[in-house]
Amino acid sequence: MPSPTSGKIPQHVAIIMDGNGRWAKSRGLPRLEGHRRGVETVRTVVDAARAIGIRYITLYAFSVENWKRPPDEISGLMGLLDYFLKRELDNLIKNRVRLLTIGRTSELPANVQRELNRVIEATKDFKEWTLVLALNYGSRTEVADAARDYAAAVQAGRENLADASWDNFSRYLYTAAIPEPDLLIRTSGEQRVSNFLLLQCAYAEMVFTPVTWPDFGQADLQAAVDEYGRRERRFGLTTEQIQSGAK
Ligand code: FPP
Repeated sequence: MPSPTSGKIPQHVAIIMDGNGRWAKSRGLPRLEGHRRGVETVRTVVDAARAIGIRYITLYAFSVENWKRPPDEISGLMGLLDYFLKRELDNLIKNRVRLLTIGRTSELPANVQRELNRVIEATKDFKEWTLVLALNYGSRTEVADAARDYAAAVQAGRENLADASWDNFSRYLYTAAIPEPDLLIRTSGEQRVSNFLLLQCAYAEMVFTPVTWPDFGQADLQAAVDEYGRRERRFGLTTEQIQSGAK
């Protein structure tokens, strides 16, 4: 669990990048053009997050539900992912950013998996900054996968049912090696969580901004962080307990 004393800068920010389609439509452009602009925002936001001191940034890039989109949009998104990974490798290395993924990445196209593995391998030793891409991700799928793996571990005698707890179970989630998000941002005016990190965001502060993802920039990230800094995180405690340093 994040600590009540985690300070004013969130350690981990998770973002639902929404509004690419509407950004494009409002300009009479194809939806893919919105996603293309969205990729540019990814670089801007990763750089801005480092400048602010945010150590982990998780981006919801493709959900398990996104397979229901038109085939040309899906292949366009996969093409953009491949392009992004090829283009960003040098930049990630230069800036010492580690890439991780969460989601059923084994179901992604082979070329995307190859690029992902290449970038993950090349950046695996960086400790300062982490970019997590949620790809073919959904919280319910994640819980089903974790429950399956946990049950298999019980069957194999590696886990004991009597010790079942959140701490023990959460080690089977895709996010086992990643701290919980402190701040969840969703762009483009929708106020939903859409099957994204539902358990991990149990105590996250949420900020919803009307700005569409292609228009989201450094100042918008800073505004969300400022809003986070004004909130009091209580984790079930009272204000008085928080002020007296209780945990
Ligand atoms: C939501 O906008 C956005 C997505 C489903 C995909 C996000 C993908 C990118 C920004 C590009 C690829 C990502 C990386 C990391 C290279 P929407 O299409 O649902 O927008 P709408 O609600 O306005 O239609």
